[in-house]
Parts: sequence; C-alpha cells; structure tokens
Amino acid sequence: MPFQCRVSWLIQHLVHGPNGLDREALNARGQLRQKTAIDDDIRCRGRHPAVHFRCGRSILRGARKTILKRTSLKKSQARQLRLARCTSKKLPKARRVMLDKTPGDILDNLGGDAALARAFRELGVENDRHWAWDNYENVVRGLARILNAKRLIEIGGGRDPLFKANELAALGIEMTINDISQVELDVLPDTYRKACFDVAGDISAVADLRGHFDLAFSRMVFEHVADGQRAWKNLYELLAPGGVALAFIPTLYSFPFVVNWLLPDDVAAKIVKMLYRNRTDEEDPVFPARYSWTFASERKMKPMLEGIGYSEVQILPFYGHGYFERLPLIRDIHDRFTAMARANDWRTIASYAYIAARK
Ligand SMILES: C[S@@+](CC[C@H](N)C(=O)[O-])C[C@H]1O[C@@H](n2cnc3c(N)ncnc32)[C@H](O)[C@@H]1O
Repeated sequence: MPFQCRVSWLIQHLVHGPNGLDREALNARGQLRQKTAIDDDIRCRGRHPAVHFRCGRSILRGARKTILKRTSLKKSQARQLRLARCTSKKLPKARRVMLDKTPGDILDNLGGDAALARAFRELGVENDRHWAWDNYENVVRGLARILNAKRLIEIGGGRDPLFKANELAALGIEMTINDISQVELDVLPDTYRKACFDVAGDISAVADLRGHFDLAFSRMVFEHVADGQRAWKNLYELLAPGGVALAFIPTLYSFPFVVNWLLPDDVAAKIVKMLYRNRTDEEDPVFPARYSWTFASERKMKPMLEGIGYSEVQILPFYGHGYFERLPLIRDIHDRFTAMARANDWRTIASYAYIAARK
C-alpha cells in the first residue's frame, strides 16, 4: 500500500477511533467519486485495518464483499480493484504480516437476520481457536442476555462447569449441570442443581425437564457422544420453544482429531496423557472420543439439524490447534497453513466450532 495511504488511514483511525467512519458518515458525504469511495470504504474498516493489506484470492475477497455491500460498485469493478492491489510490489510483505494478525471475518459470513445470527454479530466473533476458548464463557453469558434466557443447562458439565456456583445467583439464572457420570457430578458442591443422564440416550427418566430450558450449552462434550443425532434430538426435546442449543466441539477433519478418531481409545488416551501432564484420571480424565456429527461444515450440519426440527442453525468455525506447539518447524508450517485456512474459511479442516441451533 502506498505510503500516503497508510498515513491517511492512520489519521482516519486516530480521528474517528477504532471503529472508523460508519456507513452513515460515508453515505452522508454524498457524491463520492468511485475511487474515493473505495479508499474511504477500506479506510472506514478501522476495526479490521488488515483489509488494507489483504492480497491474494481469499483475503481480498473479504474486502471486496465489504466494498460491494457498502458502495454502488459492480462486481467487475471490485475485481479490478483486487487485481490492482495484488500487483503492488509492497504487498507480499504486508500480506505476510497481516495474515498472522488479521481477525477472522466470519461475521460477514453469518447469514440472515435471524435471532442467532444477530446475537453472534453482536458478540463480535473471530474465527481463531484462541478466541473460541477465551470467549466461550462470555458467549454463553451474552447469548443468555440477548435471548433473555433464564433457565440454562450445561450438558456434560462434569466436575468443571463453565460457571462457578457463586456466579449463578449474580447472573439471575437457574442453572442445571448435567453429566452422564454421577461420579463427575459428585465432585461438584451441592449448591449446583444436577441432572445425571446420557444426552444421547433415553431421557424418559427426566421427563420433567422436557421443554424446560431456554439455553442448553456444552463444551468439549459432543465429540464423546456416540450418536450425535440422538443427542441433538434430545436437546430439541429439552428446549422450550425458541430455545437455543449451543455446542463447542473439536471438529473433523482437523488433523489431530482425525488421528484421535482413528486410534484405539487406550492409545489415544496414552498420547494425550503424555502430551499434557495434568490429564490424569484424578484431575482431568480423558474420555473416549467418537466424533459423531462434529463438523464445522454448514453444508453438512445444517440439513442434519434442520431435519430434527431446528428452525435456525449457525455454525462458527475456528481454525488452528495447539498440538504442534512444542515442535518448532511443524508449528511454524501449521501456523502458516492455519492463516490460509482462516482467510479462506476452509471449513473441512477447521479445528473447532460453535454449533448453535434454535428450536
Ligand atoms: C472432556 S469432558 C468436558 C467437561 C467440561 N464440559 C469441560 O469443558 O471441562 C467431557 C464430559 O462430558 C461428559 N459426557 C460424555 N458423554 C456424555 C453423554 N453422553 N451425556 C452427558 N455427558 C457426557 C463426561 O462425563 C465428561 O464430564
């Protein structure tokens, strides 16, 4: 990007703050010449300054989408812009820098104006695994607030539920912790409401919980369930009308999870315990993984969940994993590849996903 453009962007950023110019401000300027409109539009994306540097097919496609959305440019004109930027000599280096730092722009891909899509937009999701792990608690809290959910259930909360008991009263919600294992639930203090049942089994024993919950969520549980379809069906039964089910899962076909899926349970458990010292049976047991219905691909999951009866399905993919962290060269190659996968939104190899479905 030319030097003067950088300076100009920096000034815009300082004057208008991190969110830059908003759409109204842009429109209010009226008769902008097309080129100025493009520059302003890119500049106004202060929240994602990376768009300045985006080069190569996928990254500029993100920028093009924004440009098409906010200006009257035709597709062919936006394509020219992409070519123009790709031919700049300075771009390759800039691209390398920004690929590492770019916040994933999955919000652009969240379809429709339905309740879940709006809720996730409000929460400002990024498609990076760090974001997924760091923000899950906030996302559940935010969804509960946005959806005005009062009765929540954590599926497979086990000995390590998302919310501490003393937090629940302050949140003003009724929380039930579920697990298949009574041993896991017994580790929890009795201040928690507990419900021991198999989410993928016969739930007739908990008939009183049918249609009870506004939000059912889980973290790292659905990959352990042998029959994903049954689990999602049961969640549908447990939800009140309009209720939302949310699962945070590792997904196929991310390399480490494919390996975990293919290996015999005891070998997989030994490897995990070798890699992570805290994964002992007493502290943090390893549960066998099945990976049924654990895809980040919307094309795959959406029809399956809609077949159960869910009215809205949103899948947020997250890229990258930490399994190569101790292997310097492989880790670097993996980081590069992850950046490409993020930028291109290659769902098939996403590592994690939030799968959300509304009854
Ligand atoms: C990897 S642990 C995750 C625990 C907790 N959610 C967390 O994030 O730390 C998986 C939990 O899911 C529970 N689980 C496995 N299969 C289940 C099922 N079919 N129904 C309910 N819970 C299940 C296990 O007992 C275990 O507590």
